[in-house]
Amino acid sequence: MPTARMTLSPDAVVGTVRRELFGGFVEHLGRHVYDGIYEPGHESADAEGFREDVIELVKELGVSTIRYPGGNFVSGFRWEDSVGPRDERPRRLDLAWHSTETNEVGLHEFSHWLEKVGSDLMLAVNLGTRGTLEAIDLLEYCNLPGGTEISERRIRNGRGEPFDVRVWCLGNEMDGPWQLGHRSAEDYGKLASRTAKGMRQLDPGIRLVACGSSSAHMPTFGEWERVVLTHTYDDIDLISCHAYYEEHDGDLGSFLASAVDMDGFIETVVATADHVRAVRGSDKQIDISFDEWNVWYLSRFENVDKIEGIDNWPVAPRLLEDVYSVKDAVVFGNLMISLLKHADRVASASLAQLVNVIAPIMTEPGGPAWRQTTFFPFSITSRLAKGVALKVDVSVPTYETTRYGAVPLVDAVATHDANSAESAVFLVNRSTTDAVVVAVDVSALGASEVRESHTLADTDLDAANTLENPERVAPHVNESVRLADGLLTVTLPPVSWTALALA
Ligand code: AHR
Repeated sequence: MPTARMTLSPDAVVGTVRRELFGGFVEHLGRHVYDGIYEPGHESADAEGFREDVIELVKELGVSTIRYPGGNFVSGFRWEDSVGPRDERPRRLDLAWHSTETNEVGLHEFSHWLEKVGSDLMLAVNLGTRGTLEAIDLLEYCNLPGGTEISERRIRNGRGEPFDVRVWCLGNEMDGPWQLGHRSAEDYGKLASRTAKGMRQLDPGIRLVACGSSSAHMPTFGEWERVVLTHTYDDIDLISCHAYYEEHDGDLGSFLASAVDMDGFIETVVATADHVRAVRGSDKQIDISFDEWNVWYLSRFENVDKIEGIDNWPVAPRLLEDVYSVKDAVVFGNLMISLLKHADRVASASLAQLVNVIAPIMTEPGGPAWRQTTFFPFSITSRLAKGVALKVDVSVPTYETTRYGAVPLVDAVATHDANSAESAVFLVNRSTTDAVVVAVDVSALGASEVRESHTLADTDLDAANTLENPERVAPHVNESVRLADGLLTVTLPPVSWTALALA
C-alpha cells in the first residue's frame, strides 16, 4: 500500500481563509431560478414563492457571497426589465440559453431570497450588449440612498434602503466567442476601464472584478490577462478565472488530476498580474476572483441538450442538469483544496452553480429537493476551513496521466484557527486502485483530538444521488483515523475525498 507523509506547521501560512472563498453563483438559466429556488405552487413555498426546503439546503451548504444574474445570460440582460410591478415586466428572449426570461424574479425578489439564505450579493453588469451608462445606472439604483430619478425608482419599487452591493463583475467571459458582444482583450480592457472609472465616481468603495479567461485553455489565455490588466490595473481589484472539468474519453486518471490544472491556472494568472504590476511600478496587488468553477459535462450540453429553433424558446427548460457521481465529488473536493492552497491570492470564489444547473442541490417540480454528491465536500469544507490555510508538502508516489504527466497520488491542504485552536486537514487519494496510508505530523499544531472525520468514497465510482435514490451517496466516518503523540494517521480509500477536524 502506498504511503504519504506530511508535516503541518502553524507558521507555514499561505493566507487567511476568507469566507468569500465559499461563494456561489445563481444564473437565470434552465430551472435554476424558476422551478429551482422559486416555485410558488410548491408545498414548501413561502409567501413569496421561494421553496423553504431549498433555502434550508442552501444554508446547510454554507455559501457566502452569491454572484448574480449571470453568466452568459447577463450579456443580453436589461436590468430595468427585472424591477418594478411584476405584471408590467416584459418577457424577453434569452439568447445565451435559447430560452424565454419572464422576469418574474428580479433584483428585489432575489435580494429577499438572499436575506433568507444569509448570503451577500455580487452583481454582474452587462458589458456584452450594453455599456458604461447602463452599468452606472444599475449601481445608482442599487447603492444611492435616494434623491434621484433612478434611486427613487428603487424606493417606489419597495426598497427604501440601498442594496449596498459591494462587489461588481465587469461583464462575463468577454474572451469567449460564444459571449454576446464578445470582444478583443484590447476593446474589453478599454471598456472595462472606462466603466470602472465611472462606477467609482459614483461609489468609490466598491470592489470591481475584470473578466479574465473563461478557461486556462483559451487560445488567448495569458495574453488576455496581460492586455486587460494593462488597461484596467488602476481601476479594478480582482481578475476573474473560470474553470470547468469533465472526464474526457474515459481518461479517469487525468480527470482525477483536474486540480493540477486549476493550480497552474491560478499561478499563471498571479504571475501575469504581478508582471503587469512590475511593468507599471505599482504598489497595488491584483488578486483573483475564481467566480465560476465546478465539474461540468459541457460536451454533453453541446452535443445533446442544446435548444434550437426560431419557434422554440421555452421558459425554464431542463438544461445543464448534470448528475454528479462519487468520482465527480472527489475531483470537486480537490478543486476546493486547490482554492485553499492559493488562499493568499484567490480572494473569492463562486461555485457554479447552486440549484438544478450544474448544482449541488437538485429539485423536482412539486417534489423533493436533495443533495448531490458534490454537496458534501462543499458544505464540510465551508464549515471546517477557518483561520489560515497552511502550506502542506506531501511526500507521496506519483502516477502518470495523459494530460498532466506525473501527478502526486495524494493532494492535501490544512487550515488552522489560532483563536479556537482548531485545525482541519483536507485530502484526496487519486489512485484508482490503491488505498493510501497517510501520516501527518501535527505536533506543532498541538492537536490532541480528532473531532470529526468524513470520507467520501464508494466501490461504485458512478454512484450518484437521484430523485429515485436521493441518499445513495454520503460521506462516512473514517474508522481508520488515529491521533497519538502528535502523529495523525488515516487510510484513504482509492478515489476518495477526506476531511478531518482536529482540536
Ligand atoms: O455556468 C454556466 C456558464 O458557463 C455561464 O453562463 C458562463 O459564464 C460559463 O461559460
